Amino acid sequence: MSIHILGIGNLGKLLAHSLRKSHPEIPITLLFHRPGLAEDWERAGRCIEIVRNGQPDRQGGFLWGDVWKERGQIQNLILATKTYSTVQALRPLKDRLGSESTVLFLQNGIGTIDEVTSQVFPQTSSRPNYLAGIINHGIYTTSQFSSVHAGIANAVIGPLLSQFQSMPSTTSPESPTTFLAQKIVNCPILSTSFVSKQEFLHAQLQKLVINAVINPLTVIFDCFNGELFHSARICTLIDRIIAEVSVIIIAILSTTSQEQQTVGSPLLARFDPESLRTTVHAVGAKTAKNISSMRQDVLAGRRTEIDYINGWVIKTGAETGIECPVNARTVKLVKEGRGISEDEIDDVFPS
Ligand code: PAF
Repeated sequence: MSIHILGIGNLGKLLAHSLRKSHPEIPITLLFHRPGLAEDWERAGRCIEIVRNGQPDRQGGFLWGDVWKERGQIQNLILATKTYSTVQALRPLKDRLGSESTVLFLQNGIGTIDEVTSQVFPQTSSRPNYLAGIINHGIYTTSQFSSVHAGIANAVIGPLLSQFQSMPSTTSPESPTTFLAQKIVNCPILSTSFVSKQEFLHAQLQKLVINAVINPLTVIFDCFNGELFHSARICTLIDRIIAEVSVIIIAILSTTSQEQQTVGSPLLARFDPESLRTTVHAVGAKTAKNISSMRQDVLAGRRTEIDYINGWVIKTGAETGIECPVNARTVKLVKEGRGISEDEIDDVFPS
């Protein structure tokens, strides 16, 4: 069995490095899909470096190839591209992924999987098996093949629920997804748990809230994750974002067939504003020294993933008839590239 990785950003690097270290026997191929990556790889000495507590750790021994030139069936693919470029990045691999293959989606936000299903794998019979992962670690890039693991947290892997509809589970013990899931769970540094479909959905929605708060606000206030929580005024804004997202999530979970819950049930209680607040503050503390992925994107002049995070909240709200003005303003500021000071919060986000 072998593993391919597409998308060598922070998550791709962290996964490649951890798998290499814990399972040196498994062939791991890095797939390059951007011009210049192969040259950068040579310059980096064909190694991935992860720095923890100031200590660099370099791992080599990877295989690599151009996504357009490499051939052969892919058994396990870790997909860690940016959400908005996933469909395009995956197209050249379409014929190399079949019903025996596993694709692990490792991205922030919600929406990519449905795009991939409809645009890349519309045929159910030849569609690969899907897994999804949520990485709560804080990690930022210092150069193309080097990152700092600034917030050591945990990760979750689970089978996938497309657009919150019920899908057959693909994770029985003999499932093709087992190999990849087990190998990741057995990387101690990642602290990964394999969870049920329903638990994964909850983890995914909790991560959405974390990203809907930390990512855009670190861009708007141009700060490290932890700095957001030092300001009482920013904390009030955080509560307002959370309140809107909480309403949307509870509305969705209360109406989908999978999740028929009554308000006040223990599962839905995880999504009340108070619980979400505790979760968001805890992640803020764990990743205090991190530069959020969205701020890294902005600092590097890249497009952000806001459409798949707060944008998803607004879109889902509109479909459900619920307005989310604070999230809408947040998206607007990020898209306009406009930062504000704490003193401007009340003017920009009127109650
Ligand atoms: O996108 C990110 O940066 C991360 O998901 C997180 C957990 C917010 C840490 O920075």
